[in-house]
Amino acid sequence: MELKNVTLEKKERVAVVTINRPKALNALNSETLKDLDVVINELENDKDCYVVILTGAGEKSFVAGADISEMKDLNEAQGEEFGILGNKVFRRLENLDKPVIAAISGFALGGGCELAMACDIRIASEKAKFAQPEVGLGITPGFGGTQRLPRLVGLGKAKELIYTCDMIKADEALRIGLVNKVVPLENLMEEAFAMANKIAENAPIAVKLCKDAINRGMQVNIDEAIAIEAQDFGKCFSSEDQKEGMNAFIERRAKSFQNK
Ligand code: CAA
Repeated sequence: MELKNVTLEKKERVAVVTINRPKALNALNSETLKDLDVVINELENDKDCYVVILTGAGEKSFVAGADISEMKDLNEAQGEEFGILGNKVFRRLENLDKPVIAAISGFALGGGCELAMACDIRIASEKAKFAQPEVGLGITPGFGGTQRLPRLVGLGKAKELIYTCDMIKADEALRIGLVNKVVPLENLMEEAFAMANKIAENAPIAVKLCKDAINRGMQVNIDEAIAIEAQDFGKCFSSEDQKEGMNAFIERRAKSFQNK
């Protein structure tokens, strides 16, 4: 299928997904969400890709939200359907079997902030700005914001941001734990690649199982969570990379992981 608003490039073990609709500040319409869904299919099947960087085209905006011109005339059922589409795609991204780093240049608003939150790690430029402006448009956040924001920054701060629509700068986003790191705009992709490459040096099956244990474990009680960790820990021992990693340590040689 031909992609209209999303591009996918590969650089060795790292894939770069770009939301590419700069005329609308990369706003997410249904077409863009469907493109992203197709790209996720590709990434799922790509055993040579260990880490994904997700970014937006241009320097002004990561993603300025869901597309307001597409949403404005929706009725209740259509609104729900649009929310379900966005949530389905974002959940697939969150559950992708490799880490996803959001590289956020500028605006990450509404669905854009929600997209960033569905990624594992967020690196923001000093120029990035974040908000959930939905209630100012007469709607709730619809692509996971009411759920992921409190999980990331705590209940009180999430409610403040969602009820007020306050737009916060990168330094405040860092302070409240919404982003992992803030870097100069000109270094954004370099920093994202540096982190991606560092992750890609480690055993990909182990990284994948860490993501699984963290994501699933955070949704259940601590006893079930520890049981999930035990299972994932056990699974590592059926991988060749576990033997390689431990033998390389014992033999004091460089390791060479094969994603097997
Ligand atoms: N949807 C559709 N188009 C958008 C858009 C959006 N979310 N954000 C920006 N655009 C379009 C503008 O309409 C404009 O298009 P035209 O040139 O054809 O008029 C173009 O992008 C450039 O935008 P501006 O002229 O507005 O640029 P600016 O520099 O003056 O302002 C901005 C930038 C502050 C980001 C402003 O565009 C803005 O406030 N955008 C909307 C942000 C927003 O409210 N996002 C949340 C959407 S709701 C949502 O996401 C729901 C959900 O949870 C799923």
